[in-house]
Amino acid sequence: MNRVTTKVLMEKKQRGEKITMLTAYDYTFAKLFDSCMVDILLVGDSLGMVILGYDSTIPVTMDDMEHHVKAVARGTKYAMVVADMPFLSYHTTPEEAVKNAGRLIRAGAYAVKMEGCDDVLDKIEAVLKAQIPVMGHLGLTPQSVNVFGGYDLRAKEEEEAKKLIEDAKKLEKAGVFAIVLEKVPAMVAKQVQESVKIPVIGIGAGPYCDGQVLVCYDMLGMYEDFKPRFVKRYAEIGSAIKDAVSRYIDEVKKGEFPGKEHSY
Ligand code: KIV
Ligand code: NA
Repeated sequence: MNRVTTKVLMEKKQRGEKITMLTAYDYTFAKLFDSCMVDILLVGDSLGMVILGYDSTIPVTMDDMEHHVKAVARGTKYAMVVADMPFLSYHTTPEEAVKNAGRLIRAGAYAVKMEGCDDVLDKIEAVLKAQIPVMGHLGLTPQSVNVFGGYDLRAKEEEEAKKLIEDAKKLEKAGVFAIVLEKVPAMVAKQVQESVKIPVIGIGAGPYCDGQVLVCYDMLGMYEDFKPRFVKRYAEIGSAIKDAVSRYIDEVKKGEFPGKEHSY
């Protein structure tokens, strides 16, 4: 199978075929997800929380992102690899944004994801001019958590919903190939989806989006620090790990492991 491209995603939206996306942060997980033919693997700056143990995405650096993008790229044959541009890597100047986006592309990403609209539009345009595909991210934008003061539902009021639709149109006009839409009412997401021709990929944005994305550690039941309502747990891998590790400890203590079959 050929690798998923921006063109493939656009065709899926036109056919009404849902787009699937998951986060991945390392080689082994990327290889497992890729073998399931997921369309997009996002090396999300959510790695700040689920991999590095910070309490937000704010501390994540370009070095952190580059390191994990390399690992995911090595595990992926089919999925499009998208890399998050971390906090402050694209907020200063267009030159800085292009330089940092280029580092993630050299590390093996196909595209980068950038949060927001008006404040970063000139940087998004500069990255696009450098021939690097950009995915937008609107609604709840976790890199702005300290300005908003939390992770509440966005675009609840009509005015904010109108602005969200305007922003989606602006990003489409600028040339982004898709938009992640996070934590907004389902009916608002539907309006956004209908307002642009590019795919809208939702997380906590209801069923009317062109695709869905989840953080893999959330949907696999491995991350327990907090559990948003929009997460569905498709497995309880956290419990399975605890069970396996407890049995290992028990068997080593009792002298049951290693057995003859594991010894030389
Ligand atoms: O960092 C991340 O995992 C993300 C997704 C939640 C879209 O940006
Ligand atoms: Na992110």
